[in-house]
Amino acid sequence: MSELKNDLLLRALRKEKVERPPVWMMRQAGRYLPEYIKLREKYDFFTRVQTPELAAEITIQPIDIIGVDAAIIFSDILVIPQAMGLEVLMEEGKGPLLPHVIKTEKDINSLFTEGVEEKLSYVTKALSLTKKELNGRVPLIGFAGAPFTILCYMIEGKGSKTWDKAKQFCFTQPELAHQLLQKITIATINYLKAQAKAGADVLQVFDSWSGCLSPTDFKLFSQPYLIQIADALKDHAPVILFPKGSWYALKELSESSASALGIDWCISPAMAREMTGNKITLQGNFDPAKLLLPIPEIKKEVRKMIKEFGVQNYIANLGHGITPNIPVDHARAFVDAVKESEL
Ligand code: CP3
Repeated sequence: MSELKNDLLLRALRKEKVERPPVWMMRQAGRYLPEYIKLREKYDFFTRVQTPELAAEITIQPIDIIGVDAAIIFSDILVIPQAMGLEVLMEEGKGPLLPHVIKTEKDINSLFTEGVEEKLSYVTKALSLTKKELNGRVPLIGFAGAPFTILCYMIEGKGSKTWDKAKQFCFTQPELAHQLLQKITIATINYLKAQAKAGADVLQVFDSWSGCLSPTDFKLFSQPYLIQIADALKDHAPVILFPKGSWYALKELSESSASALGIDWCISPAMAREMTGNKITLQGNFDPAKLLLPIPEIKKEVRKMIKEFGVQNYIANLGHGITPNIPVDHARAFVDAVKESEL
């Protein structure tokens, strides 16, 4: 295997000294890139995800086009419910749809945890191929959804602003909810281990909707499963936990086996540093909507963000995924501004 030419991300995760923070963007492989949109016109979503050559091509696009310091494999968090036996459709422009939601204990019992890695062999193949094609240019990030976020989709069947059905399920049938969360956790651990084996240098766990929970409910329905995943992966690859909106949990999560915590823009860098001490690397937290500012202002805001976090033990990123309305040169300006911070 080739040596990494750019290991900034890995050094930041090990809390080693860096010349400048590494930079990548959540959801960097996708919708705002004209080169991606061209492929989208030819192949439907799951064809793009399940064809290793296409997934590798899409994964590498942002490395070439905007110059980020890491690649994140083109896939989706909803491949786990699919591999566990649930049908998942992706309606272009509308988002995911799971026609058969989980309602009963019988539904939970019928979900698979065995053989998930084999069913997702197209992801591990895409990782190996991408790794080969990257030829050591930058590290490769693998990922999965956090158990609570996956439960949200399994119960609701589609996106939601409030996730009230998922919460109702957790609050009224906590035993069933924990059975489901534990099953998703087992499948996710096996899947992430397979990703590390196939060449993922780093693993990120997206808890995109944990912020709909109160601190007490996060501690019940999300945190224990994030901790289990981080513990199980600690000898396989560095883990970044991103419980979006759950800033209240930063202190406890900074004591977990994770190497970094992702944060959104609803907490200041100073407060996040205060809550986590110097125990753990932080990743974030630029508001993606600020990428719509004029380029000189984007650069000014990025400089301010780096100053607030500090150069060390920090990964420059957005506070959530880049949206389709961001001009490519604005995304590039974000990356350039971080690179210009080199000491
Ligand atoms: O980061 C990357 O660039 C890698 C690719 C990636 C995708 N989805 C591709 C995708 C990653 C890391 C994801 C994760 C994901 N998927 C999350 C967690 C991150 C987050 O944003 O909170 C979630 C909640 C999903 C579920 C999902 N997939 C939704 C809600 C949607 C539709 C809305 C949307 O974001 O467009 C998807 C579809 C999807 N996944 C697209 C892409 C590029 C858009 C479909 C398309 O453009 O063809």
